[in-house]
Order: sequence, then C-alpha cells, then structure tokens
Amino acid sequence: MTTKQGLLNWIDERFPLTSTIREHLTEYYAPKNFNFWYYFGSLALLVLVIQIVTGIFLVMHYKPDASLTQSGVPVAFASVEYIMREVPGGWFIRYMHSTGASAFFIVVYLHMFRGLLYGSYRTPRELVWIFGVLIFLALMAEAFMGYLLPWGQMSYWGAQVIINLFSAIPVIGPDLSTVIRGDFVVSDATLNRFFSLHVIAVPLVLLLLVAAHIIALHEVGSNNPDGIEIKKKKDANGRPLDGIPFHPYYTVKDIVGVAGFLIVFFAVLFFAPEGGGYFLEYNNFIPANPMVTPPHIAPVWYFTPFYSILRAVTYPLFGIDAKFWGVVAMGAAVIIIAFLPWLDRAPVKSIRYKGPIYKTALTIFVIAFLILGYLGVLPPTPARTLVSQICAVIYFAFFLLMPWYSKIDPCKPEPERVTWK
Ligand code: HEM
Repeated sequence: MTTKQGLLNWIDERFPLTSTIREHLTEYYAPKNFNFWYYFGSLALLVLVIQIVTGIFLVMHYKPDASLTQSGVPVAFASVEYIMREVPGGWFIRYMHSTGASAFFIVVYLHMFRGLLYGSYRTPRELVWIFGVLIFLALMAEAFMGYLLPWGQMSYWGAQVIINLFSAIPVIGPDLSTVIRGDFVVSDATLNRFFSLHVIAVPLVLLLLVAAHIIALHEVGSNNPDGIEIKKKKDANGRPLDGIPFHPYYTVKDIVGVAGFLIVFFAVLFFAPEGGGYFLEYNNFIPANPMVTPPHIAPVWYFTPFYSILRAVTYPLFGIDAKFWGVVAMGAAVIIIAFLPWLDRAPVKSIRYKGPIYKTALTIFVIAFLILGYLGVLPPTPARTLVSQICAVIYFAFFLLMPWYSKIDPCKPEPERVTWK
C-alpha cells in the first residue's frame, strides 16, 4: 500500500471522504445532454464564493459607522472611499463585490429561467425548486442590506423608502418598521444591524440553503433539456443509460462556463464597473444626507420588476391603503414562484415538447417582466403606471392561469431517450 492510499484509508475510516466524492462527483450520473442553460448553477456557486471572499477582505477595512464623521463625511462612507483610493487593490475588491452583486442576480435569473424552460421544478424536484426560491428571497435581503453599507444617498433613501413600506401593514406595521430600523428614521442603529445581518446572518442562511438545494438535487438527480427522467432506463450495473459521471465530464464543461463568465465579468469590472449607473447608482457617490431627498429614488435593477408591481397597485381596498396592497402584490409576486410545481399540469416537462400555448405564455411573461424591470428604474407617470399595471396582470396571469392553459396545450410526445448529437 502506498503512503497516499494509507492516508486515504486512515481518513475514510474516520470521515466519508471517498464515498462522498463518489456519490456526488465520480459516480453522480448527470444526463449527457446538458446544454448552455446548465452553466448557471455552477456559475451561481462561483459568484457566491466571489462574494464571500471579497466580502471578507472588504470587512477588514470597512467601518459601519454613521454617527462619527471623518473630514465632515460619515465614517461608513469615508471607509469605502478609503478602500477605493488607499487600500492596495481595494478598488478591485470593492468593484468585484458590487459588480458581483449584479452578476449574481443575472446568473440566478438565467438559472431560474432554465427551470421554466425545462420544467425543472416538476416532480420529483419540488424541494430543489422551493430551496431555490428561499435562496432567491435570502439573496434579495442580502443585496438590500448590503446596499445600505456605503452610506450614500441611494443607500439611505432606498432603505428609507423600502422600510417605510412595512409601516403600511395594518396594526403591527409602524412598530415593525421601527424594529427593522432600530430607530424612527434610518440611522446609525439601522446601519449596524444591517451590517451584522449582511456579513454573518444572511450569508450563513444562504450557505445552508445552497447546501440543502444541492443535496436535494443529488437525491433525485438532475433534470435535462428533454425533461425526461434518465433513472427510468438503467444498464445491468444500475447506471442510467443516458447518464455520464459528473466528474470529469461536467467539471470540465463547467470550466468552460467559468472561463466565459470571467471574461465577461472582468471586462465589465475593468471598463464599466458601475454598469452605467445600473450596478452602482450615481447618487450613491454622494454621502447620505437625511436633509436632502434625491429627486428620484430607484432601487437597483434586480429589484425593479418587483418594485414596479408594488407601484402598479394604486387603489385602496377594504379601506386599507393602496401602499399595503402594493406590498402584498410585491410579496405575492415572489412567493407565487414557489407554487410552480403544482401550477404546471402539462403532461411533459420540457418546452421542447410543450405546445404553442406555453411557448407564447412564457415569451409574453418574459417581455412583461423585462418591461416591469425597465419601468421600475424610471419615475412614475400615469402612462407608465398603466403599462406596469398591464404587465403586472400578465405576470400573475402566467402563474394563475397555468393550471388551465398547461392542460389544454397540445403537447408533443416525449422521446424514450434523451436527444443528443
Ligand atoms: C445562490 C444561488 C444558487 C446556487 C448556488 C444554485 C446552485 C445550483 C446548482 C450547482 C445546480 C446544479 C447545476 C444545474 O442544474 O445548473 C442547481 C440546480 C437547480 N437549481 Fe439552483 N442554485 C441557486 C439558486 C436557485 C434558484 C433561485 C432557483 C429557483 C427558484 C434554483 C432552482 C434550481 C433547480 C430547479 C435546479 C435543478 C435543475 C435541473 O435539474 O434541471 N436555484 N442549482
């Protein structure tokens, strides 16, 4: 026995190393027909690691203090400027983290869209999907709290607007928003609790959810662009006929995705790190000033589809403020995604075999979602509000009418085996 084998045996008797590698990599059989859309799961993992590592380095220099000033500027804001100007490579780390936040949402939205394309949320992957929606919620909370930390005008006023929404909830609302802020206005207390939550609590939850997401996926096995279960057809050794070991086949494929992603990511980072004001808003380069409200307050792009749905609700109902129903609609817009596994009644999973109704519904849904996103960054006008109301109706109709249209949609029969050239 070699020393290496001896060491491995010693570890395996105490920790399931070899068996875990086998179960999740070398003998985890993934369908052989994965395509472009299957890059985004591993890319989401990559961005998660980037955010955690750059975050660790940012915390070494960042100071969450809005009560003290340095040269007349709040310390939190000054410490970010210090990172950008004085810390060696600090600008790089900071931009990786701020551009990384947008990259995270781009990757995750594409990852979720893949689910809509191939019906990845259907039986037996309901829990994979639900953990995904919880990850999405945690990610939104994480990004929202992170944006307060640089203590710029948008950090301050964005938080003010969003936390005020909670005060629209009947009875408990006003107290709830005070608890969230830790004060009657956004202040140093808010900054401190958001820092704590952003740096430790939510990342911990995110990591646990991602682990649960992947454990659940490996329990049932991956879906694929044909939406058929490869476990139904096995060889004499019990291996799926259309499966290939995750390692080395998909580790190599995913490296191609990582290379492509990093080329685009660094191009943006070096040449347009603020994404033209979409990744970091221009107003956020002005220190927070509670006495001066910016003329137009808009959330960062990844929140705007849901923000538009909030603003689309302009009528009070049952004597309760429109603002409250806007919050309800915004919350419902996210939560409803979790119910997809039970809303889709089509006999097939993948869009390849679904009929024209689903293809049309998905196209209109995506267009409505993009319009909502675009309108969310603009100040409201009566015409824009009307368009966002129409798009919000389309958004909910896509989900709520699915049990009906997915049943009558003329689907094609699925093939016996995955299609693969
Ligand atoms: C931090 C965020 C996330 C990470 C790191 C992550 C990671 C992954 C990974 C590594 C896979 C396997 C590779 C692949 O199929 O692409 C996967 C699959 C999957 N993810 Fe995620 N995910 C995240 C967020 C989400 C969200 C927000 C959803 C949906 C709401 C979601 C739904 C799914 C589904 C349904 C699958 C199975 C896909 C299939 O087998 O076709 N994930 N995820």
